[in-house]
Amino acid sequence: MSGHGDPIPMTSRRAAPLKGVAEVPGDKSISHRALILGALSVGETRITGLLEGQDVLDTASAMRSFGADVRHLGVGEWSVHGVGVGGFAEPEDVIDCGNSGTGVRLIMGAMATSPIAATFTGDASLRSRPMARITDPIALFGARSYGRSRGRLPMTILGAADPVPVRYTVPMPSAQVKSAVLLAGLNAPGQTVVIEKEATRDHTERMLAGFGAELSVEETAEGRVITLTGQPELRPQSVAVPRDPSSAAFPVCAALIVEGSEITVPGVSQNLTRNGIYITLVEMGADIAFENPREEGGEPVADLRVKFSTLKGVEVPPERAASMIDEYPVLSVVAAFAEGKTVMKGVKELRVKESDRIDAMARGLEANGVKIEEDEDTLIVHGMGPGGVPGGGTCATHLDHRIAMSFLVLGMAANKPVGIDDAGPVSTSFPVFEPLMMRLGAQLVRGNR
Ligand code: S3P
Repeated sequence: MSGHGDPIPMTSRRAAPLKGVAEVPGDKSISHRALILGALSVGETRITGLLEGQDVLDTASAMRSFGADVRHLGVGEWSVHGVGVGGFAEPEDVIDCGNSGTGVRLIMGAMATSPIAATFTGDASLRSRPMARITDPIALFGARSYGRSRGRLPMTILGAADPVPVRYTVPMPSAQVKSAVLLAGLNAPGQTVVIEKEATRDHTERMLAGFGAELSVEETAEGRVITLTGQPELRPQSVAVPRDPSSAAFPVCAALIVEGSEITVPGVSQNLTRNGIYITLVEMGADIAFENPREEGGEPVADLRVKFSTLKGVEVPPERAASMIDEYPVLSVVAAFAEGKTVMKGVKELRVKESDRIDAMARGLEANGVKIEEDEDTLIVHGMGPGGVPGGGTCATHLDHRIAMSFLVLGMAANKPVGIDDAGPVSTSFPVFEPLMMRLGAQLVRGNR
C-alpha cells in the first residue's frame, strides 16, 4: 500500500473469526517527536520501534533538510545526529510533508524561531488543511508566513531572527498547535507559556522533559498551563517508541464485531490522553481484558485480550473527544453493529483532519445501509446489531488512512463486501495493516469486486 501513485481499490469481505496476536507498529505521534527532538539535540539520539509509515519518513527527510544527520540502521532503528536548539540550517528546497498535518505543523513550530526561511507543501489533503492555527501563534514570536488563501499550503515561513517568548491560549483542542508553540518556544529567550483548556495528548511535554528541557505543567482554573524555559541544551536520548494505540484500535474494533473472534493486541498505551476509545468500547459492553500493565518507552501500556461482543450504543461525552479524536471513524463502524444509537458530540475538529471525517463516515455508512444523523459538531450512528449491517457499498476515502481502514473493518462484519476507492493512504500510519489483518483472518482483496 503506497501513499503515492495510482489509487489502490480494495474490497473487504466478511471475515472468518479473527484469531491471533496483532503486533501493531510504533506510535505515530511519538515517532515524529523523536525525530524532531533528536534533530534539536546536540549529539546522537537512538530510536527503536520508529513507525516507518510515510508520514514519519517525510519528517525524517525534513530533518535532514534542516541539517540533521538522520540514518536508518535497521527495522525501526534510527540514529539522529542533531544540530541543537537554534541550529537548524536553511533548507535548499521545498519541504514536502506528504499527508502529515502533525509533521508540517510541528516542523513549522520548530523552525519558527530560527533566522531561516522554509517553504512547505504536501499532498492534496494536506494542502487543503488550515495552517493559520500555527501561523497565528508563531507570528507572536516574530515569525512571518506567506501562504495561499485561507492559510493553506504551499507556504513559506520566515523564522524570527530575534524571537520573543509568548503566552498563548490554544483556541481549539489541538496537540499539534500546543506542540508547535512549545517547539517554537525552545529557541526564544525566557519563558514561553502555553495554556490548553482541555488536555490533549501530552507526548511533547513528556518528551521535552526527557530530552532535558525545563518544563512545568500546572492544572489551573484556566486549564493546563505549560511553562517552558527557552534556549536549553537538549540532551540526546535513547527513545523506545511504544506501539500506537490509534492503530491498535483497528484490530480491536474488528475483533469486537466479527463473530467468534478472540485476539491479543500487546503493548497498547493506556496514556490517559490517548485511551478514550478503550473507555468508550468498555462502556458499550466490549469484552476487553487489560493484562500485564507495565511501562514501555515511558508510556503506561497493557496487553489487550479482545473477544467478539454484543454491544450497545452509548453517548460519548464531548470532554472525552481529545483523548480519542482519531478513533471516531472506527468507533462509528463499531456503533453500526451495536444495538441502539451512538451519539458522538463535540467532534467538529474531525472536519479538518486528513479529510472531513464526519462527512466521509456519514456518506460511506449510508452507502452500506447504515442510518446516520450529522450536524457541524455531531455524528449519530443508528446501530443495526450484530450481523445487521447490509454492506455492499463502495466508499470514498479522500486520501485519509483512517477512513480507508475503518471501511475495511466494516466489510469484515457486513453481510455484503465493502469496497474502498483507495487503500494507498493506509501506508501513512499503518503500513502492515493488510498483511496483519489477513493473518488474523480478514479477507482483503485488491480491486472492487
Ligand atoms: C496529533 C494530534 C492530533 C491527531 C493527530 C496527531 C499529534 O491532531 O489528530 O493524528 O501527534 O500531535 P490535532 O492536534 O489537530 O488534534
